[in-house]
Amino acid sequence: MATTAKPPKIEEVRKEADRLDSAADTADQLMKAITLLLHEKMLKYNWVGFYMLEAEASPPVLVLGHYQGAMTPHTRIFLNQGICGAAASSGKTVVVDDVQSDRRYLACSIETKSEIVVPIFAGGKVAGELDIDSHFPAAFSFEDRELVEYCARLVGKHLESS
Ligand code: SME
Repeated sequence: MATTAKPPKIEEVRKEADRLDSAADTADQLMKAITLLLHEKMLKYNWVGFYMLEAEASPPVLVLGHYQGAMTPHTRIFLNQGICGAAASSGKTVVVDDVQSDRRYLACSIETKSEIVVPIFAGGKVAGELDIDSHFPAAFSFEDRELVEYCARLVGKHLESS
């Protein structure tokens, strides 16, 4: 197998995300479809959700959008709070293999062991983020990160064209 080959499951899900992107009329529809896709097909993705940045709010705040998984108490997160705030304020993907050892972590579920948060860019600015929690430690490999970043880019492009 060539070193650039992606695991078949991830490649299949990426192609499905492309199909959803083509079918979606709005970024909102696409975000909903992506939460359903990732939650259903990626078995270690136990909570999948979007937070959108209200940049004009004072102070700016991340607001929970579409999600799949258990209800979360964190419906509004300030940029100086949590893994979510760290990803949005730095504009960089944050992967946490063991949430209990990260002091920034805001707990949603006692079952969560690892987390990835990927910023979404539109017009060169952070517009929101895609947040995924897993019940498994270190659930997010390099290929997972590429997949989640790919989905975040699709949403960003949709936001730019809407
Ligand atoms: N754990 C996140 C909060 C959001 S929940 O995971 C849904 C954080 O630390 O920012």
